[in-house]
Amino acid sequence: MDPTVDKLPENTHSKTILSLNAIGKRFGKVTALEDVSVDIKEGEIFALLGPSGCGKSTLLRIISGFETPSSGELLLDGQDMTRTAPNQRPVNMVFQSYAVFPHMSVADNVAYGLKMEKTPKDEITDRVNQALTQVHLQDFKDRMPDQLSGGQKQRVALARALVKQPRVLLLDEPLSALDAKLRDAMRLELVKLQESVGVTFIIVTHDQSEALAMADRVAVLESGRLRQVDTPSALYQKPVDAFVADFIGRVHTFNTQHISLDNGSVTALVDELDSITLPLTELPDGIQAGPQPESPAVIAFRPECVSVQLATATPPAPDAHIQFNGFLGDIAFQGQHSIVEVTRGDQQSVTAVVNHQELHTLQGQPLGTPVLASCAYSDLMLLPPA
Ligand SMILES: Nc1ncnc2c1ncn2[C@@H]1O[C@H](COP(=O)(O)OP(=O)(O)O)[C@@H](O)[C@H]1O
Ligand SMILES: [Mg+2]
Repeated sequence: MDPTVDKLPENTHSKTILSLNAIGKRFGKVTALEDVSVDIKEGEIFALLGPSGCGKSTLLRIISGFETPSSGELLLDGQDMTRTAPNQRPVNMVFQSYAVFPHMSVADNVAYGLKMEKTPKDEITDRVNQALTQVHLQDFKDRMPDQLSGGQKQRVALARALVKQPRVLLLDEPLSALDAKLRDAMRLELVKLQESVGVTFIIVTHDQSEALAMADRVAVLESGRLRQVDTPSALYQKPVDAFVADFIGRVHTFNTQHISLDNGSVTALVDELDSITLPLTELPDGIQAGPQPESPAVIAFRPECVSVQLATATPPAPDAHIQFNGFLGDIAFQGQHSIVEVTRGDQQSVTAVVNHQELHTLQGQPLGTPVLASCAYSDLMLLPPA
């Protein structure tokens, strides 16, 4: 996957369907969510991404109505839903474990919610058929769940939610019960399905590659707070801080000791490196010039921007590249590209993602061969600390 290419242009979805305004949630002494505000757009796939315990499921449960926020409000299509009961909200949840009833056929599983609501029989038949067609299970109506694969069970769970014709579908770690290969296939399938039904999806995941691959926009949560809400490419290219940079892909970070801004030129004195001129004309939000005390700003760069060459080759221009002398470590061949480790004694090693050509000059060299890793100044980011 190329994370620099967004699935859709940014302005495809413009109408707000769901507004979260300053949502907070406390469980006794635990603050699960704090001041969460975001507008979710009609028809988008919106991902809530963050490490375990950051509040993703709590936020999803607040949207579904299974949990009440301690503060803030929630508007759906402009209507206040903060205290509305779950079954009165045009919102449906697909659970992590799918919760497919084992003793009911596929069709009965999908019909269950409508039967509970005493929907007329003919309408149930039509809507069940339509939902099963949407998830491509029209030929599996009479099967029992134990005759289905993991992916098919997950589609039954989806059909069961879609049959209620929700405005917003909530999916909590929808692919985590599947094995790795099926998970990749289901990502694409879910995105295609969402495009064909057009229902707004809010997906909770702790897997950044899943969020980047599937979502139109991603909210990165950490300890109950939203760090950044952006398109996948913006998160990757313009992370607001070192936490987001590290959570979205890999990044090397080095602490700064001093930052200065003179005549539209930003320079930083960096641990292990010399003074560096950064590709900036002003200081990013949250960063002050001067000495960097306790929690210093960091310079960061991605392994994709690092080149590796033999120490005997001509080095790149030293005034435009940071350079690390080191030794050739492990090379992991990954098809289109390879990952090369450059070890540096007791200093942090540097990882590079290299193409075939670069790999060619390194392959066959013994482990420990002296090499030079470098990264252009233009690929450096200056970020507030994590
Ligand atoms: N019912 C509850 N009672 C007490 N603490 C809870 C409850 N639900 C969640 N929490 C706490 O709130 C925080 C966020 O949990 P959760 O939303 O489940 O995180 P995530 O889904 O991101 O892993 C955690 O510290 C968790 O222990
Ligand atoms: Mg969770």
